[in-house]
This record gives sequence, structure tokens and C-alpha cells, in this order.
Amino acid sequence: KILPRFYHEKVIDHFNNPRNVGSFDKNDPAVGTGLVGAPACGDVMKLQIKVDDTTGEILDACFKTFGCGSAIASSSVATEWVKGKQMEEVLTIKNTEIAKHLSLPPVKLHCSMLAEDAIKAAVKDYQTKRAKSSGDSETEP
Ligand code: FES
Ligand code: FES
Repeated sequence: KILPRFYHEKVIDHFNNPRNVGSFDKNDPAVGTGLVGAPACGDVMKLQIKVDDTTGEILDACFKTFGCGSAIASSSVATEWVKGKQMEEVLTIKNTEIAKHLSLPPVKLHCSMLAEDAIKAAVKDYQTKRAKSSGDSETEP
């Protein structure tokens, strides 16, 4: 597997051995799905979290990314970072931290932005689903 020289070894590691590739059932009430795209390049990232309903802890995470090496590496890192954390906590993860961790060059910053957006979208999806299901059981006036 050959990647351009400017990629940092951490990117190549996550590209060759991505962590947590896969999918959860998006209809599972414990699952939040974030699906985001980068208009600039057309790359798409799906990141999913599985949340403990009582504690709000993210028990598991997985991703599928159709995109460049930096996007795959960013999503791989993102799934590692969100596991075991609280939902509010992962909302503070910045793309710049991911980019720094992977030593991404400036032109590849938007790839890590996808990962930040995907985390936020996954949390939002989970919260929306949860609000909906608790709303369903109440009788509206
Ligand atoms: Fe080439 Fe994203 S622009 S993979
Ligand atoms: Fe578009 Fe990496 S080049 S996500």
C-alpha cells in the first residue's frame, strides 16, 4: 500500500489498520448515526455510537468512510477517542486535535473536520431518537 510521502506514519497506521470499521443497526434505539459529507471532495463518513441509556456513556463506536487516507485515519481516531466517554464530553473533540494527533497537513484539515462533524451528528441523532421515543410514550395535551 503506497501513500504519498507527506502522510505521517500515524495516518498510514490508521489507514492500513483502521480501528472499529463496521456498522451498527441504525434502528437500534441505543445507536446514534452520523452521516456527513465533504462537499469539496465528495468524501462521505459514517460514524456510529452505541450509548448506555442510563449513564449516557458511549460504550462502542464504529465507522465506514468512503474517502481519502486522512479521512479514514481521522474517523478511526475519532472512534477510539469517543469510546468510554460521555456524550457531552465528545462534543468538545475538535478537528484540530485530530489533525494534530495525525500531523495532517493544512490541505487535509477538512478531512479531520468530517470526523468532528460525524461525532456531533451521531450524538445529535441519538438524542433526537431518544427524545422522540420518550415523547411517544407521553400523551400530548
Ligand atoms: Fe480524494 Fe477526498 S478528495 S479522497
Ligand atoms: Fe476529502 Fe480527505 S480529501 S476528506
